[in-house]
Amino acid sequence: MSLPGAAGAEELIFYVNGRKIIEKNADPEQMLLSYLRKRLRLTGTKYGCGGGGCGACTVMISTYEPASKKIRHYSANACLLPICSLYGAAVTTVEGVGSTKTRVHPVQERLAKCHGSQCGFCTPGMVMSIYTLLRNHPEPTSEQMIAALAGNLCRCTGYRPILDACKTFCKESVCCQRKANGKCCLDQEDDLFDKEEKVSTRLFSIDEFQPLDPTQELIFPPELMRMAENQSKRTLVFHGERMTWISPVSLDELLDLKAAHPKAPLVVGNTSVGPEMKFRGVFHPIVIAPARIQDLNVVKCTDDGLTLGAACSLSLVKDILTNAISEFPEEKTKVFCAVLQQLRTLGGEQIRNVASLGGNIISRKSTSDLNPILAASNCMLNLASRGRKRQIPLSDIFADGVGNNTIAPEEILVSVHIPHSRKGEYVFAFRQAPRRENALPITNAGMRVLFEEGTDVIKDLSIFYGGAVSTTIYAKQTCWTLIGRHWNEQMLDEACRLVLKEIAFPGSASGEKADYKKTLIVSFFYRFFLEVLQSLKTMDPCHYPGLPMEYRSVLQDFKTKMPQSIQIYQDIEPSQSPQDPVGRPIMHQSGIKHATGEAVYIDDLPSVDGELFLAVVTSSRAHAKIISIDTSEALKGAGVFDIITAHDVPASNEFYYSSDPEIIFARNKVICVGQIVCAVVADSDVHAKQAAAKVKIEYEVLEPVILTIEEAIKHNSFFEPKRKLEQGNVDQAFETVDNIIEGEIHIGGQEHFYMETQSVLAVPKGEDKEMDVYVSTQHPAIIQEMVAASLGVPANRIMCHVKRVGGAFGGKLLKAGLLASVAAVAANKTSRAVRLILSRGDDMLITGGRHPFVGKYKVGFMNDGRIRAVDTKYYINGGCTPDESVLVAEVSLLKMDNAYKIPNLRCWAYVCKTNLPSNTAFRGFGFPQSALVTETWITGIADKTGLSPEKVREINMYKENKETHYKQELDPQNLIRCWNECMEKSAYYSRKTAVNEFNKQNYWKKKGIAIIPMKFPFGLGTRYLSQAAALVHIYTDGSVLLTHGGIEMGQGIHTKMIQVASRELNIPMSCIHFCETSTTTVPNACASVGSAGTDVNGMAVKDACQTLLKRLQPIINKNPKGTWNDWIKEAFEQSVSLSATGYFRGYNENMDWEKGEGQPFTYFLYGAACSEVEINCLTGDHKNLRTDIVMDIGCSINPAVDIGQIEGAFVQGIGLYTMEELKYSPEGALYTRGPDQYKIPAVCDIPEQFSVSLLSASQNPYAIYASKGIGEAGLFLGCSVFFALRDAVTSVRNERGLKKTFALNSPLTAEQIRAGCADDFTEMVIGKWGKGLFKYLCVEVHTAFGTLEWWGS
Ligand SMILES: Cc1cc2nc3c(=O)[nH]c(=O)nc-3n(C[C@H](O)[C@H](O)[C@H](O)COP(=O)(O)OP(=O)(O)OC[C@H]3O[C@@H](n4cnc5c(N)ncnc54)[C@H](O)[C@@H]3O)c2cc1C
Ligand code: FES
Ligand code: FES
Repeated sequence: MSLPGAAGAEELIFYVNGRKIIEKNADPEQMLLSYLRKRLRLTGTKYGCGGGGCGACTVMISTYEPASKKIRHYSANACLLPICSLYGAAVTTVEGVGSTKTRVHPVQERLAKCHGSQCGFCTPGMVMSIYTLLRNHPEPTSEQMIAALAGNLCRCTGYRPILDACKTFCKESVCCQRKANGKCCLDQEDDLFDKEEKVSTRLFSIDEFQPLDPTQELIFPPELMRMAENQSKRTLVFHGERMTWISPVSLDELLDLKAAHPKAPLVVGNTSVGPEMKFRGVFHPIVIAPARIQDLNVVKCTDDGLTLGAACSLSLVKDILTNAISEFPEEKTKVFCAVLQQLRTLGGEQIRNVASLGGNIISRKSTSDLNPILAASNCMLNLASRGRKRQIPLSDIFADGVGNNTIAPEEILVSVHIPHSRKGEYVFAFRQAPRRENALPITNAGMRVLFEEGTDVIKDLSIFYGGAVSTTIYAKQTCWTLIGRHWNEQMLDEACRLVLKEIAFPGSASGEKADYKKTLIVSFFYRFFLEVLQSLKTMDPCHYPGLPMEYRSVLQDFKTKMPQSIQIYQDIEPSQSPQDPVGRPIMHQSGIKHATGEAVYIDDLPSVDGELFLAVVTSSRAHAKIISIDTSEALKGAGVFDIITAHDVPASNEFYYSSDPEIIFARNKVICVGQIVCAVVADSDVHAKQAAAKVKIEYEVLEPVILTIEEAIKHNSFFEPKRKLEQGNVDQAFETVDNIIEGEIHIGGQEHFYMETQSVLAVPKGEDKEMDVYVSTQHPAIIQEMVAASLGVPANRIMCHVKRVGGAFGGKLLKAGLLASVAAVAANKTSRAVRLILSRGDDMLITGGRHPFVGKYKVGFMNDGRIRAVDTKYYINGGCTPDESVLVAEVSLLKMDNAYKIPNLRCWAYVCKTNLPSNTAFRGFGFPQSALVTETWITGIADKTGLSPEKVREINMYKENKETHYKQELDPQNLIRCWNECMEKSAYYSRKTAVNEFNKQNYWKKKGIAIIPMKFPFGLGTRYLSQAAALVHIYTDGSVLLTHGGIEMGQGIHTKMIQVASRELNIPMSCIHFCETSTTTVPNACASVGSAGTDVNGMAVKDACQTLLKRLQPIINKNPKGTWNDWIKEAFEQSVSLSATGYFRGYNENMDWEKGEGQPFTYFLYGAACSEVEINCLTGDHKNLRTDIVMDIGCSINPAVDIGQIEGAFVQGIGLYTMEELKYSPEGALYTRGPDQYKIPAVCDIPEQFSVSLLSASQNPYAIYASKGIGEAGLFLGCSVFFALRDAVTSVRNERGLKKTFALNSPLTAEQIRAGCADDFTEMVIGKWGKGLFKYLCVEVHTAFGTLEWWGS
C-alpha cells in the first residue's frame, strides 16, 4: 500500500493562545515544546527533562467533542506531544494565561505573591497545572489540587509556598494560617507565642489578590468547533524530514495501514514511543495515530462490565471507573477499585491525560501498573486485524513470559473489557516505587481470589507481578496449586514459598534490588492475604476472625494530603518607616515574571543571526587512550557546520587550579565516562545531536579503572593535600573511656538537578576578538577567566552576562566555565554565535554532583553518655579532576563537630581520585556528609548506653563559650535556644510518648521521631573570597539602576539588594531596577556561594548608596521638603556625580592547616529540627508526618525569602538523605540520567505538617542589618527525617528482638528500610534472621562509592 497523501503536503491547523496556526510543513518528529520555543518564540514553556518527568513544559490542551458538544481541557507535557497530534486542538501556554502587558492571571499573581517561585524555572509549568485544574474545577478540593501538582517538580522551594498559593483557590481552607491574633490552627499549645514577642505568621496578604473570574478566560476557538462539527473527517498525513505521520479515521483504514506497515507503531499519547525515540535511539519512519477512530474511543457499559476503547486516556479511564464505583453495588466494583488504586499514582496528571489504556497494555513494560491488575482480573482484549476480529484474555499475552507473540504485528487492540467482580471474589493491587507518586514502580502486583460460595475455599486464584522481570509475570503454578485450599496461614506460608520458587529472577540472585523485589513479592501476597481476611470478616463476622487490631493499619496506604504549615518570624518594629522594606516579606523581584513566563533564561534569548547549536560528544569509557576520532559520517549529517576538538582550542585546553588540570576537551585520553571529547555545531539542536551520535571514537582501555572509594584506597589514588585536624590527646582518652564503638557509614552522592540545565550562548562581536558570553553560572568572573584563557585573549575582551540562573546549588561554577569554553572555542572557530544547552541526560552525565562519602569512626564515651574521644576518617569520591574537592574535604573537617564539644578529636579527610565525572560544590559543601557521620555515631552511643539520642545530644552539646577543634571561639547561646524552642514547639516529649504508644498498637506500621541540633559556621575561609562590589547609577528621572557581583539563582539576592538600596537611599523599591550581573559592570566578582551573597554584596550596595547619599546630602539639607526627583535634578544641575561604586573588602578569615587552627568563619548560624515519620514495614515505604524547624538567622532582611531558603534546602536534604540514589554501571557509566530514574522530592514528600520559626531577638554584628546568610544551612536538617526513620526501624527491630546495633546508609531508601525490618518474609528470601539478615542486607548495589554493603545485624 502506498502512503496516503504522499503527493501533497497536509496543512496542520491548530490554535495557540487564541491564534490560528497553519503549519504547512509539520514534521512528525517535532514536539510541541520545541515548536513553541523555537518556531513561535513562546519561551515561557520550559525544557527541564524532555521525557515527561518534570512538568516544566506543562501546557493546557483543549479539544472539542462534537457528539457530546463538550470541550475538554487537560494538562500535557509539551516535550512529548508531537505537533501532528494537535490537529484541531487549542493550546494554551503560560503566555496565554496572562502577562504583565495585559493582565496577570490570579494563578500567576498568587504564585508570585505567596513566594511560590525562587529561581522561577518550574513556575510556568506549575501555573499551567493549576490553571488547567481551575478551568475544569474553579473551586477544587485540596485533594484535586495536590493531585494536579504530582507531575511538577521544583528543586528550589520545597513546595510549601506553591501549595499556599494553591490553597487560596481551594474550597476548604486547610489551615487558617492567619488568625487575627497571629495564631494558626496548627498551634497545639496555647502558649506557643510568648506574649512579649512580636511575631508574625503572615508572609502574604489574601486581601491583595484578585478574585478568580472564570468568565475572563480565553474561549475555545469557534473556528475549531465549526471544523469539528462540519468537516467530515479525513485521513491526515504529514511528511517530515525522516518520518511520516498518518492519522486515519476509520478502523478499516487503520487495519489496512497496519497490514501494510506492521512495524509502524500506533502513537496515541507518545509517552512510550516518544521516550524510546528520544533516549534509546529507536527510529520509526512511519507512525500511525489512531486517536480519532471512534471504535478505539468507545465507552460501553455492558451487563458484565465496562468496555473501554484502547485510545481512551488513563485520566478518562480513571473518571469512568470513579463514576462506575459510585453507581454499581460494591460487590461488582472490586476490579474497578483495584485498577483505580493504581491509576491514582500512575505518572502525573500530564501523563495520564494523554497516555492511553491500549498503549500501557501493549507496550508490555515490566513497569506497567495496569497489566498485573487487569490480567489478574480476567480482562479481555478485543483485537482486530484486516478481516479478523478476536477476543483474548489479557493474561494470554504474558503466558510464556518475555517475547510472547500472542498479538501479531498487524493486529491492533480495539478495546478492553474490564469485568465486574462477583460475589465471593476479592481483587487488590499493590505497588512500591522509589517515590510514592509520579515514579515507575520497583515492583507491583495484581491479585484476585474467588471462593467457593459461602466458604473460604479457593476456587480460582490469579497473581500477577510487575517489575520483577522484563514484562508482567503470572505466578501460574502457585495459583493452580492453591486451588481448593482454605484461606489460612498454612496456605499463606505455602503460597509465599511457591511464588518465590516460581518467579525466577534473571542473572545473579544478588542483582540490583533482586532481594528487595523478592521480599516485596511475598510481602504483597501477605498484604493480599490480610486484605482478604478482613473482607471475609466484613462479609461474615461470625465465621471469620478478621485481623488483630495491631495488623489493621497496614491496610491503609499512605496518602498525600495538603500539608498544613506555619511560618513564624519576628515582626518589624512599629517605629520602622512604612517605606523601609527591610525585614518585610517582600515578593521576589522577578516573581510575577517567573509566573508569566516573561523571565528570560539563556535558552530564551532570541537567536542571533547565523547562530549555530552545539552538541557534545562524550567518552563512553572510564579510563582509556583515544586511538582515533572518526568524524566523517557526522560531517555528512544534515545541517552540520563543523566539528570542534581539542586542536581547535587556540590557547589553554587545560586549567591548573591545583595539581591536576580541569580539561575542556579530552586530548589523548579520557578519564571518565561523560568527559567531553569533541563537539558538533550545526544549524539546529536536532541536527547537532543527530550528528554527534555519528562520531566514532576508538579507545584502548587503560588500567586501572578506579570507580569506588575502596578502589581508590587500594590504588592509593588521592588528590593532595590530605587534611587532618586534631585536638586534645585522643589516644590517651581512649584508654580511659567506659565504651568504644567503631563503625562506618556510606553516604551517596547527589545530583544538583537544577531545573535549568547548563546553558551558554557565545556571541563573537566581530572585532578585537571581543565576545559576549551569556551563561547560566554562579561565577561570571571565572567564566570570563576560563574563556579568555582558552581563546588566548585578555579578559577585557570577554563580556560575561548573567540575568538569572534557573537553579545552581553549587553546580554552576567550574563546570559552567568548561562548558562556556567549549561554546566559546566553537564560536571563535566558526565566527558564529554558538548556543549550548545541555540535555538533562548529558547534564547529569557530565557535570558531577555532591561527593559520595565514606565515614569511618571510632568513638570513646562514658556510661553517662559523655563523649571523650573521637577518631574519624572521611573518604570522599572526588571523581577524575580536583575541582573544589579538597576544599570540600576541608570544610567537612571544620564542620564535623556539628553542635558538639568533643574534647579529644582527630579527623582526617582524603579526596579519592577516581574515574567518575568530577564532583563539585553542592549546597552545604561537605558539611551535610560529615555531620551525618557525627549524628550516626551519636545514635550509636545512645544504642550502647541505653540513653535516648536526644539525651546524648544534649549532654554533649556546646553549652558555654568554647573553642571549636580549630580553636575558634563560639557562643552557643542561640544553639541552646533553638534546641529548647524546637523541643517545645514540636512538643517533642509528648509526641515521643504518642509515637511509642502507636508503635505498641501497630505491628506493620511504625512511627519514628528525631530531633537534631545544628551549628552552621558561616565563612569562606579567607578574606579575598568574600570581597564584593556594587555599582549604583541614578538617572535624572530619579530611577536607580543597581548592580552588584551577586547572581540571582532563586535565592532572592536581587530582591534583598533592592531592599538594602531602598533603605539606604530612602526611596521606594519601585524606583530601583536590577538588570543583570556582568563582568563589564562589576569586575572580578567572587562566586555566589557559601550562603554569602547577601552578606557581602549587601555591604557593597550599602557602601555605594551611602556614597551617593553623602553627595546628595548638602542638596537635601538645603531643601529638606523636596522630593527625591527634586534632589536628583538639582544634583545633576550642580554636576554632582550620580554614579557610585561600593566595595566590601571581605571578612577577616584565615585557617592555618599546618597548625590546625584559625578563624576560618565569621559567625555561626544555629538551628534544630524535629521530624516524625511513619513507615510501612512490609514495603519500606514511608510518610513524612511532621517537621518543626527553629532557625537562628539573625534579623532577617526578608523573612519570606529566608524561610523559603530554609524550607527549600530542608526538602533538598530530605532528597539527599532518603531518596536520591545515583546508580552507575560496573564500567562507570551513570545510569540515572533523568527524573524517571533519579527521584528528587515531589509534592508527596513534604511533611504533612511543616513549621518553620525564626529565632527571635537574635543579632549578628558581622553582617548587614544583623542578618545571617541562610542559603545552605537548612539542608542538613533534612537528616532529622533520616534519624526519625532510623528510630522507626529501631522500634521494629527491638520488638522483634533483633540485635541492637545496626547501621543504615544514606540515602535511607524504601529498600533499606524494608531490609532493616527483618521478618518472616525477609527470612524466606535470604534465610534466617541474624546471620541470614546480614547476608540479605549485603545486596550489592553498585553506587558511586562502590559496592555498598548495607548491613543491619
Ligand atoms: C514520565 C512518565 C511516567 C510514567 N509513569 C508510569 C507509571 O507510574 N506506571 C505505569 O504503568 N506507566 C507509567 N508510564 C508509562 C505510560 O503509562 C505509558 O507509556 C502509556 O500508558 C502508554 O500509552 P501511550 O498512549 O502514550 O502510548 P504510545 O507511546 O503512544 O504507544 C505505546 C505503544 O503501544 C502501542 N499501541 C498503542 N495503542 C495501541 C493499540 N490500540 N493497538 C496496538 N498497539 C498499540 C504502540 O504501537 C506503541 O508501541 C509513564 C510514562 C512516562 C513518560
Ligand atoms: S521537559 Fe517536559 S516534562 Fe520535563
Ligand atoms: S523555583 Fe521551582 S525549580 Fe526553582
